[in-house]
Amino acid sequence: MTNTPQHNDSKIIVALDYADAASALKLVNQLDPALCRVKVGKELFTAVGPQFVEELSRAGFGVFLDLKFHDIPNTVAKACAAASNLGVWMLNVHASGGLEMMQAAQQAVSNSAEKPILIAVTVLTSMNQASLSQIGITTDLATHVLNLAKLTQQAGLSGVVCSALEAPILRQQLGKDFCLVTPGIRPANASLDDQSRVVTPADALQNGASYLVIGRPITQAANPLKALEAIYAECVN
Ligand code: C5P
Repeated sequence: MTNTPQHNDSKIIVALDYADAASALKLVNQLDPALCRVKVGKELFTAVGPQFVEELSRAGFGVFLDLKFHDIPNTVAKACAAASNLGVWMLNVHASGGLEMMQAAQQAVSNSAEKPILIAVTVLTSMNQASLSQIGITTDLATHVLNLAKLTQQAGLSGVVCSALEAPILRQQLGKDFCLVTPGIRPANASLDDQSRVVTPADALQNGASYLVIGRPITQAANPLKALEAIYAECVN
């Protein structure tokens, strides 16, 4: 990676779903930090640690640190402060940690020098009505997502992760400035992989998405930069 810090207005966040630094670097070295940001999740972060995140930032990539913190308010606030000090562009917590936890997290982020964007996860898309009911939540799933998104906004966070299919109602209910980060994106004709409810990049933006998390359509492409450039072009047209 070269040392060329850049800022961009790209809507694309490339998911670095890799188990080791070498595999992640092989992909990152083919990407242009002017056209995307990157997402580091639990697997890669646990395997390679914070130095790799700092390295990505130094190479000019905005980093979404997707660690979904969920703990007592003091612990989450300290974790958010530590993540902010790594120079990440975005990080997240679980909205189900509650109002006080999210307020503490936002306070920590606001007090940091870098002031990254803080968003929350509402309901994991791996959960359905039955699994919600197993943990004692009998509210309709869509209503629960909306309630948690409203709580996130009340706590002062910048936005939520959501499906692009949920984006229109969240955009309508939470206003134009609330940040909606949407995975489950597939360009027309791309393989669905294990995603089932997918939306194209252009439709996701039309639905109100602020940023698109995209993994395999770029990471598994024969030419990842070409795939990124094509999706970028779709986003700006
Ligand atoms: O390869 P693909 O584009 O499906 O990757 C999507 C990324 O977004 C992965 O990192 C996945 O874990 C993440 N994600 C998701 N659905 C959610 C939340 C996160 O696919 N609801």
